[in-house]
Amino acid sequence: GIIILDFGSQYNQLIGRRVREMEVYSEIIPFNTPLSEILEKKPVGIILSGGPSSVNSAEAHLIEKEILESGIPILGICYGMQLIAHLLGGKVSKGVKGEYGKSQLNIEKSNALLDGVSQNSTVWMSHFDEIESIPEGFEISGRSGVIAAMANSEKNIFALQFHPEVSHTEEGGKMLENFVFNICKAEKNWKLTNYIEKTVAEIKEKVGTSKVILGLSGGVDSSVAAVLIHKAIGDQLQCIFVDTGLLRLDEGAKVMENYGDFFNLKIDKVEAGERFLKKLEGISDPEEKRKIIGGEFVAVFDEESKKFKDAKFLAQGTIYPDVIESQSVKGPSAVIKSHHNVGGLPEEMNLDLLEPLRELFKDEVRKVGEELGIPHHLVHRHPFPGPGLGIRILGAVDAEKVEILQKADDIFIEELYAHDLYEKVSQAFVVLLPVKSVGVMGDERTYEYTAVVRSANTIDFMTATWSRLPYEFLDLISSRIINEVRGINRVCYDISSKPPATIEWE
Ligand code: XMP
Repeated sequence: GIIILDFGSQYNQLIGRRVREMEVYSEIIPFNTPLSEILEKKPVGIILSGGPSSVNSAEAHLIEKEILESGIPILGICYGMQLIAHLLGGKVSKGVKGEYGKSQLNIEKSNALLDGVSQNSTVWMSHFDEIESIPEGFEISGRSGVIAAMANSEKNIFALQFHPEVSHTEEGGKMLENFVFNICKAEKNWKLTNYIEKTVAEIKEKVGTSKVILGLSGGVDSSVAAVLIHKAIGDQLQCIFVDTGLLRLDEGAKVMENYGDFFNLKIDKVEAGERFLKKLEGISDPEEKRKIIGGEFVAVFDEESKKFKDAKFLAQGTIYPDVIESQSVKGPSAVIKSHHNVGGLPEEMNLDLLEPLRELFKDEVRKVGEELGIPHHLVHRHPFPGPGLGIRILGAVDAEKVEILQKADDIFIEELYAHDLYEKVSQAFVVLLPVKSVGVMGDERTYEYTAVVRSANTIDFMTATWSRLPYEFLDLISSRIINEVRGINRVCYDISSKPPATIEWE
């Protein structure tokens, strides 16, 4: 396959996905992986990714120069290009103002990478440093104001200052295809139907006649993992579904229907709503609420799993981005909010982990899900945070507020589907503020809560913009919520981007 060395760019996972979309296996590994380990993987090509560091700084993320002499075709992107220039004797300097956003690429001398690409096309730039002079043996293949592309065709080393993996680079797909197929001569070896067959066989082999427990949340990852494992070992799989009472409207019943009735999964549903609400009573600090919900979740799951004493495995819906994040050179990114997902079972339970989706990107998990027969709308659901509505009701949480929020949120989601907007946004929900304001309904003065409609568009959930939903649509949402949900008399639309805001409100 193709190896992508991770220098920390937010687009790295996108490079990996683009390669896999061509049915070629790709793997993203830290930039400082020793060359011997890289060679063991027998890559047909290596992509040096972008990254925030500067080759001239003391803490630059450097690599062994031998990688560039290994004879394996190389593509450097952004920082990767600067690194190639730096290591091979070119010069990289601090640009005057950097370049962010769309730019025009003018090809001066085409090569195998740019084969079939138009003379002029739009590319996506995001860099501060720039190439001042190229290394010996290289040619400038294109400019955009700065040196935008260079190559040493004889040595199969290519480099681009812009990001071909980003969709704003009009002909980026063509360039990546040229690299993968024409330059690396990669074979199409990555097919999801094969993945299912292979994984089902592996699960059977690993689990044998043992029992497996899995925390089912109704979200995409745990559901696809459950159905896949069930395909392999049937009723040896026992799912535990904790209804925290902080889920969306009717979610508990829907999970039982979709996965219990339809897929025949054995699901132990735990009604823990009252327990969670009791623990949350009067607590309004966001971090404290998160800790309480997370802690309570582990406690409930732990108690419940004791019922299944003979379980040998704990299955989880860990996916490839989780794996990449955990090994990333970026280090544990500053904790802005404490995240907690299923897991954290006490070690004395001695369960082995079963993570059949560890190698897959989210869009691949979705395809596997559909291949397994899970309906489209279920595998294309937006993410939903572990602490659920507990962090979407600002301040103290109580049963009444949960009910109000569930109704408002359900109206918003229902209308997004009805207007074909649900899949055009990355995450959408309603937030309930503990702020009351004055309104008028009929002849009566009202004094009720404020709902905030939130919808974000993002590739990686690290940065996001607010969705430009049509005014008419927002108008409809506002009137439906105010007219149909008692307790809300005012609706606002959140127009904050991340950063500096976050997607959730707590
Ligand atoms: P923020 O609010 O930090 O959220 O911009 C980014 C993404 O993470 C989700 N999120 C969570 N997911 N447990 C989760 O499983 C959590 O505690 C949690 N907090 C935030 C959020 O919904 C968004 O998709």
